[in-house]
Amino acid sequence: MIASVGLIGGDERYTSPLVEVARQLGFVVTPRMDDDGTPGGGEAADGGATAGGTGASGPVWPGASVLVGAGDVELPARFPAGLRVIALVNPPDPDRIPASLPDGVEVQVHVPLSKAAWWRVAVGDRVRHVYGYTLDLDEAHPSLVGLIRSRFARALVRFTQAGVWVREATRPTDLADTFDIRWRVFVDEQHVPADEELDVRDATARHVIGHVDGVPCATGRLLPPDDHGAYHLGRVAVLRERRGTGLGRRIVRALERLALDDASAVAGRPVTEVPVALSAQVRAVGFYAHLGYDIGGATYLDAGIEHRDAHRLARLSEFR
Ligand SMILES: CC(C)(COP(=O)(O)OP(=O)(O)OC[C@H]1O[C@@H](n2cnc3c(N)ncnc32)[C@H](O)[C@@H]1OP(=O)(O)O)[C@@H](O)C(=O)NCCC(=O)NCCS
Repeated sequence: MIASVGLIGGDERYTSPLVEVARQLGFVVTPRMDDDGTPGGGEAADGGATAGGTGASGPVWPGASVLVGAGDVELPARFPAGLRVIALVNPPDPDRIPASLPDGVEVQVHVPLSKAAWWRVAVGDRVRHVYGYTLDLDEAHPSLVGLIRSRFARALVRFTQAGVWVREATRPTDLADTFDIRWRVFVDEQHVPADEELDVRDATARHVIGHVDGVPCATGRLLPPDDHGAYHLGRVAVLRERRGTGLGRRIVRALERLALDDASAVAGRPVTEVPVALSAQVRAVGFYAHLGYDIGGATYLDAGIEHRDAHRLARLSEFR
């Protein structure tokens, strides 16, 4: 699971602050796609499950592990295992929430205090998280935006502290954590010279971090595209005691996802595929080949370690 948030619609007054919160906390914000793979209504106010010319199964938010909406929200048509859905302000009709939800799906509904008891009865066991606002704010109340911002931020932080999360390293302590992991793996374990481990490219790179139960364990960085438009992945590292549990794969996929997101931001439209390249340590070539990379060219030495070049085309459709 890559830490990205999809918007399930609502009122622009509320959704823009939610997008801001998600980005500040290191989440990628995923545009809505219609089920035929074309860009959907995105962050439009009507972004519900059946809006935007979608087919029977409704729109998708590729790779999103959290869906959020505030205002007049419509729930998605599908609830894949592990999905978190947060509906704020004026949540959906309780009947839209399926009678049985797959394992690990969590739906949170936040309503004015006076409606909370009614909601709890209406949704019964299907939704364990019905929260009343401390104040009985109506939709026009100026404090409501601040309140839903903090509710959403708290939910995202809680999710990322439980289980395994990989997200962009944007919080104040994240960079120190990523450098610490790299130091332990590359300098302590692989004896890369300390003055080569950190380099000037760290300043312009985007970094990702992986946590297990709140403990930083894995990282990687993404360099801006080269002259041929290829993004470069690097410094992929998982602490020794956490290897073999899928974290390395998730770091690589998160970096690819970030490359797609960055290319879309630069182009001003959803970019559906982007070339990614990397310099693979010979001992990790099998790992990258397993993740779909083509390994090419001769072996060369970098920081005293044998490497080979690797590349692939990352596609947005892989992140559904
Ligand atoms: C390389 C590294 C990042 C892989 O991370 P990891 O968390 O152990 O790998 P994952 O558990 O995500 O493995 C994903 C898949 O790749 C496979 N794989 C992992 N390492 C492999 C290898 N060396 N050769 C072949 N396949 C490999 C796994 O079996 C797994 O396959 P599966 O999903 O079918 O079971 C990790 O070993 C590491 O940090 N090594 C030290 C630093 C390093 O060398 N970094 C690479 C710099 S280029």
